[in-house]
Amino acid sequence: WAVHAPYIREIDRLKRERGAVILAHNYMTPEIFHGVADVSGDSLALAIEATRVPQQVIVQCGVHFMAETSKILNPEKTVLIPDARAGCSLASSITAADIAAMRAQYPGARVVSYVNTTAAVKAASDICCTSANALEVVEAMPGDTVIMTPDGFLARNVAAKSTKRIVWWEGTCMVHERFTAEELRAYRAADPDIAIIAHPECTPEVVAEADYTGSTSAMIGWVRANRPRKVVMVTECSMSDNVAAELPETEFVRPCNICPHMKRITLENILWSLHTMTEEVTVDPALIPKARAAVEAMIALGR
Ligand code: 13P
Ligand code: SF4
Repeated sequence: WAVHAPYIREIDRLKRERGAVILAHNYMTPEIFHGVADVSGDSLALAIEATRVPQQVIVQCGVHFMAETSKILNPEKTVLIPDARAGCSLASSITAADIAAMRAQYPGARVVSYVNTTAAVKAASDICCTSANALEVVEAMPGDTVIMTPDGFLARNVAAKSTKRIVWWEGTCMVHERFTAEELRAYRAADPDIAIIAHPECTPEVVAEADYTGSTSAMIGWVRANRPRKVVMVTECSMSDNVAAELPETEFVRPCNICPHMKRITLENILWSLHTMTEEVTVDPALIPKARAAVEAMIALGR
């Protein structure tokens, strides 16, 4: 932490000077998560907080679709991302034209798109969902058939519990697709007492091995509430690092898969971002009303 302290102090100072707030995803490294974040959370929490924070400048410590979501909900605010190359394998797997093709294939079916999508894809969808509310959103759709994009594994995991016929796009998260049921069975065989909790972007086979499945914040909440002796959080590496700091009695087994996009965000480029007020995230104004309607329809369902 000694090496981080000067950055943290300067980021704090610039945050006040610029009237900025730092929204950080749960996958940020501990020095960002514990050191400079004003608000941390999963995609849903960050989207909701973006509508509540009073500051005129939002520094989004996460990936590009998260910063776009903040901009869509706050077009009048300045939204900065410390590295605009921080993408997402799910968001880059689908275009608005692909959504149109799926609508043509399943006429009348509502399109539920994960927030891990570009503004253009959100604008082409009826409603958004996150890992925290996907089943609830799908169940709220009229009609028998629902189109889910772009995460094929999230869709399969929702389909297993849903009353709807779900058809999906075959996108994957490059981090979560790598976990296997076999490796989880090996952890269980080595220690039958181990708690296994997984993110729903994992395959259904992995989810079937888990004691609990939920969004990144729900996973953190589960560990805080249950305080297992030993746990494996089947998700991006930094999650365990961030919770381990507050739960010294719990042993975290870390089959570590890194999201290279999330890891583009560092204290150095957060400082640079605040210093230079770059990189500003813009969304085509023509897309904003429809994209915003899709995100707000999702948020309204939770109220
Ligand atoms: P959460 O919404 O659960 O935080 O997930 C976002 C994400 O990108 C997971 O890979
Ligand atoms: Fe996208 Fe997966 Fe990285 Fe999350 S972890 S930002 S879903 S690539």
